[in-house]
Amino acid sequence: MEAIVILAAGQGKRMGSSIPKVLYPIAGQPMISYVIEIARKLNPSQIIVVTSPALKECQEFKGCTVVVQDLPLGTGDALRQALPHINPQISYLTVLCGDTPLLCMEELNLKNSNDLTIVGARLAPSEMCMAYGRIITNQIGSPIKIIETIDATSEQKNINLANTGVMRFSILMLKQLLPRLTNNNKSSEFYLTDLLAMAVEQNYKVELTEKRYEYFQGVNNLVELSKAEEVLQNRWRENLMLSGVRLIMPHTIYLSFDTKIDPNTQVGPFVTFGKNVKVARDVKILSFCHLEETEIKQGVTVGPFARLRNGVVMEEGSAVGNFVEIKGSHLGRGVKAKHLSYLGDATIGDKTNIGAGVITCNYNGFKKFKTKIGKEVMVGVNSTLIAPINICDGAYVAAGSVLSKDVQENSLAISRSTQQEKLEWAKKFRNRQQKT
Ligand code: UD1
Ligand code: CA
Repeated sequence: MEAIVILAAGQGKRMGSSIPKVLYPIAGQPMISYVIEIARKLNPSQIIVVTSPALKECQEFKGCTVVVQDLPLGTGDALRQALPHINPQISYLTVLCGDTPLLCMEELNLKNSNDLTIVGARLAPSEMCMAYGRIITNQIGSPIKIIETIDATSEQKNINLANTGVMRFSILMLKQLLPRLTNNNKSSEFYLTDLLAMAVEQNYKVELTEKRYEYFQGVNNLVELSKAEEVLQNRWRENLMLSGVRLIMPHTIYLSFDTKIDPNTQVGPFVTFGKNVKVARDVKILSFCHLEETEIKQGVTVGPFARLRNGVVMEEGSAVGNFVEIKGSHLGRGVKAKHLSYLGDATIGDKTNIGAGVITCNYNGFKKFKTKIGKEVMVGVNSTLIAPINICDGAYVAAGSVLSKDVQENSLAISRSTQQEKLEWAKKFRNRQQKT
């Protein structure tokens, strides 16, 4: 039986922040969640996460065996802490690092009868400066030792075969060798990678498998974090386009880990999808929109320059235009709010038209209140609707009104000062000015 151990107790000193590295979000999800997700897909009998005391209650580790490594004494020490917690039926375990969010299931099929499988990847010339452990091989290409960059000679640093951090061990071998690890190196850490040389020396069956670097890129600083995010974004964008979603200038479109877009929908340049956005077919999202916590149904148009957030539902055929912000609101079928509005905590019935500049006043400084607008209502431009308020089906709200009372079905609500006209006033005024 197989287990997966995820190492996630490092401090992440190179990130320059107090947020534990493995919790850094990438596209709305902590880095560690990508690794746990892949581990789950591999369907092992047990998943163990080794983590720091601060993260032992972390929600992300639900369903995993959590082992606390009190001090970050190195990857070898981390696995040593995990060993007593591994179920007795397990005969092999694969180690994944919590800071490698680009892993892909297909690349992790490592099942074999070796005692140790090392996963290596070739670095391109531009990646040679990265601080990966280098795999040293003998004349016939078998791995004999891993040397960490900090301890490497300049000649060893020129080796382009990097240790990805993914390793598969037989439990039998681990029980023998792990207790013998030392921390006699420049970092004074117990390196898991030292097990390779020890295994070779003890004639254990060792194998090297080479995989593509892009799946194993580690994140140790903010530059690498942004690179990893870019790789994920590109993967998701490509998947969407291959499924029939038209992305215009795809590299300017930002997706979240859970963004769902159905085929035959079009997304313009510079659109950001925050968490929990679901978009149906035949939708047009024009450029510069920012969407989060939003469900968009078939045939909707959004933008350009629209912001939808905190629980918006747009029913079939509705449309939101430029400089419209919608928060926590439900727009019925065919609703139009095309220009310069704020709609917050509102329910809007089918086929209602919201004129330019309409604002719902949903907050009195202490509490939020709801606005209910019925079906086929015409809310005139620049109207201010002071919640709580209920505008019933078929009503008209005159342009420029400030309403604080409910409006009955099919009536006209008008609340603005009466227009006056002083005939010939302008002419007389001009004449007076010219004389002085
Ligand atoms: C490690 C490998 C290196 C490999 C690289 C791949 C070692 C000694 N080096 O280096 O050969 O090329 O990963 O990405 O293994 N961690 C703990 N406890 C600790 C220290 C680290 O749980 O005491 C965890 C970290 O949270 C991280 C992972 O182990 O998720 C790797 O640690 P990190 O310090 O990032 O190792 P690298 O220097 O990247
Ligand atoms: Ca790392």
